[in-house]
Amino acid sequence: MSVMVLVDGWDSAPWVSALRHTLPGRDIVSFPDFSDPESIEYALVWSPKSGVLNDFPNLKALFSLGAGVDHLLAIKNLPDVPIARIVDPDLTSCMSEWIVGQVLLHHRKVLQYQAFQSQAKWAELNQPSAREVHVGIMGLGELGRDSADILCRLGFTVHGWSRTPKQLPNVSCFHGTDGMEEFLTSTDVLVCLLPLTPETQGLVNGAILRKLRSNGALGGPVFINAGRGKIHVEQDVLNALEDGTLKGASLDVFEVEPLPTSSALWGLPNLVITPHAASVSNPEALSRLIARQIQTFENNGTLDFLVDVNRGY
Ligand code: NDP
Ligand code: OXD
Repeated sequence: MSVMVLVDGWDSAPWVSALRHTLPGRDIVSFPDFSDPESIEYALVWSPKSGVLNDFPNLKALFSLGAGVDHLLAIKNLPDVPIARIVDPDLTSCMSEWIVGQVLLHHRKVLQYQAFQSQAKWAELNQPSAREVHVGIMGLGELGRDSADILCRLGFTVHGWSRTPKQLPNVSCFHGTDGMEEFLTSTDVLVCLLPLTPETQGLVNGAILRKLRSNGALGGPVFINAGRGKIHVEQDVLNALEDGTLKGASLDVFEVEPLPTSSALWGLPNLVITPHAASVSNPEALSRLIARQIQTFENNGTLDFLVDVNRGY
């Protein structure tokens, strides 16, 4: 019986090679290079095309090769098998590095100093303390909680917003539609670590950005998104960066990826762009996790980090 790797847009070779080490004795195949679809019991997938997962009559479980599962749940007629996603300390700390790095970049005015440097200008800007800066994190899941914890330790004032109520040390927690207004109006740096679901699609629009604290310690709000690009309305973020509603932004995710070369976002001096690289799925680390998952599933029929298909994440 086989384990199949199906990664659209990625090189499957490192995944196949890592799985051959972590699952010795199993047949590890890469889509579509196999002759017997009936042999496939487990599939590790990233962004599969519609319909391709319906040809495996003995499929027992699907593993998303990302923490996000919007790439899978967007597909109609998914096979009726459990879906597990990635929760991994390497992936989490990689994301926290990116989030904390971007918060610090805006807090320590790196973009302004770079502009001064290009003019050989020696000038010091007012520097607020971390405590004066209120960071609001949308999404208090595996990734949001770790970033919140590190930002608290750096001294920032941290708020969080989630779907259901949370209690986290040193973080003021808000939830649901009722908690959103107070969360936004007390936030200087809005960090998005939400999953893309029907509820979160287009959530961060111009009206939401205009609610952020305009008189905070950074002299204007900042938006940081590493969740998914379709959670923000790109034209509204662009307008907000141009008209001063936002002082700055960092985006790792976009409505369309790769970000088209024609996008006006590329030219904005107050925006940092990274190419969906905030955190990367590492084949060695993740194939160890998936091997453990398969072993447990075969021993007692359970899987960790199951996706709730109805909830959408
Ligand atoms: P989790 O599922 O652990 O956490 C999701 C959080 O979002 C939870 O706190 C959840 O609330 C909250 N949430 C979901 N829907 C809503 C809603 N409608 N309103 C308010 N809060 C909501 O996910 P992770 O932290 O592991 O990952 C988050 C996302 O990060 C992924 O889905 C993926 O899109 C993105 N990602 C991006 C990467 C990159 O490189 N750019 C890399 C890895 C992930 P509750 O706690 O109440 O359920
Ligand atoms: C993920 C991603 O969801 O890399 O893990 O975007």
